Amino acid sequence: MHIAVIGLSHHTAPVEVRERLSITDETLPNSLRSLMAVQEVQEASILSTCNRLEIYTLLRQPDAGIAAMARFLSDRSGLPATALKPHLFVLHHAEAIDHLLRVAAGLDSLVLGEGQILAQVKKMARLGQEHKSTGPILGRLLNQAVSTGKRVRSETRLGKGAVSISSAAVELAQLKCAQEQGKQHPVNLGEETVAVVGCGRMGRLLVQHLAAKGCTALTLVNRTTTRAEALAKDFPQLTIRCVGLEQLAEELARSSMVFTSTAAKTPMLTRALLEQLTPIRRLKLFDIGVPRNVTADVAAVDGVEAYDVDDLEEVVARNREARQATAKVAEALLRQDAEDFLAWWDGLEAVPVLNRLRRTLDEVREQELLKALSRMGPDLSAREKNVVEALSKGIVNKVLHGPVTRLRGPMERQKRLQQLQVLCELFDLNQVETS
Ligand SMILES: NC(=O)c1ccc[n+]([C@@H]2O[C@H](COP(=O)([O-])OP(=O)(O)OC[C@H]3O[C@@H](n4cnc5c(N)ncnc54)[C@H](OP(=O)(O)O)[C@@H]3O)[C@@H](O)[C@H]2O)c1
Repeated sequence: MHIAVIGLSHHTAPVEVRERLSITDETLPNSLRSLMAVQEVQEASILSTCNRLEIYTLLRQPDAGIAAMARFLSDRSGLPATALKPHLFVLHHAEAIDHLLRVAAGLDSLVLGEGQILAQVKKMARLGQEHKSTGPILGRLLNQAVSTGKRVRSETRLGKGAVSISSAAVELAQLKCAQEQGKQHPVNLGEETVAVVGCGRMGRLLVQHLAAKGCTALTLVNRTTTRAEALAKDFPQLTIRCVGLEQLAEELARSSMVFTSTAAKTPMLTRALLEQLTPIRRLKLFDIGVPRNVTADVAAVDGVEAYDVDDLEEVVARNREARQATAKVAEALLRQDAEDFLAWWDGLEAVPVLNRLRRTLDEVREQELLKALSRMGPDLSAREKNVVEALSKGIVNKVLHGPVTRLRGPMERQKRLQQLQVLCELFDLNQVETS
């Protein structure tokens, strides 16, 4: 058995590749079914967020299993395997475990320490269970990741302060306005005419951060207007207009700054739409949707500046530097958790060998028992036969108890593997496990 992760993230792939591999709640059950149909796959789970698509898997055979996963990703993205390969990463065993714990802790996030990822890992653990694609090993690993993520947040300052993709988008907006005005320090957004398209989790955070950066009035544009109105009610300090998506063009025409964060699968804001509105005096677009809500070519329209989630790198680098010391403390915490999981996992590696040893000893016991019973003759009562049989079983159990406890207990990995090897050689246990 072999734990591995294969996937891509903002470290390895640009948004135009990542968006081809976003797996939605609706398509996830089918994707899990496809993965579980692969012969080499014993357990599988999928982490799909705006910045990553990762498949965690327990494989019967690593090379063939990873090749099958890469084919799945290529089919899913519509990209030929050769085009996708440079963007994929594969990690095995301890590195895969370490990676998952870092991801859950927010240490691998674009915005270091952001909290949304922990909810997404929790969801991955829940969906794996619901769809029965995870079992005792991956299930335990995912639960470990969730508790490590919580531990890092409660025992360090990594998650403190308002850090998210939304806060980074608002910070980028401030930076771009400051650059425009030739200022060195972040500017107040109170002078901007702002619209937020999308009123889900990210939309809510955008409003919250815009309010914190001096915005006092804005327009919410959402497919479902009642949801926009419900969101507006939670911000009584702001003057908020709520409109439906059909009024998007009008809002674009009157705004100087538009943030988009919808879960639409295809872009709603295109060059063609913007060209109908020209002349545009000055419009900044900040799109945090993945798949993107805004087509890349809008930047060609006069007066328009457009930024997507990859452009946030400009502001998140500073956040990363400021949090480096805290990140180190978090790394140390999760290393301990990763080692504990590995120790448990290594203990499991002993199980097949110990099962073979027990079967071998049991066969000897049964043969010797039959011989002894036949020598004792036919006068032996059923009770006496039971006592002799129990005696034989008791001896085998007592003999096995010590080695089993030691080999499944905490031990340095290499030492455990050596001892298992010696056991296999001494008792000739190297035949292939069939059960
Ligand atoms: N969650 C994160 O941590 C995170 C981080 C960075 C980026 N993102 C990206 O941000 C976007 C929104 O994420 P979220 O977590 O805020 O999602 P969410 O809470 O599920 O909200 C989804 C929003 O998208 C709208 N929407 C869904 N399908 C639509 C369609 N076909 N046409 C128009 N509007 C549609 C919804 O409108 P209704 O109210 O009408 O349903 C709602 O406003 C996604 O692209 C996601 O990848 C998310």
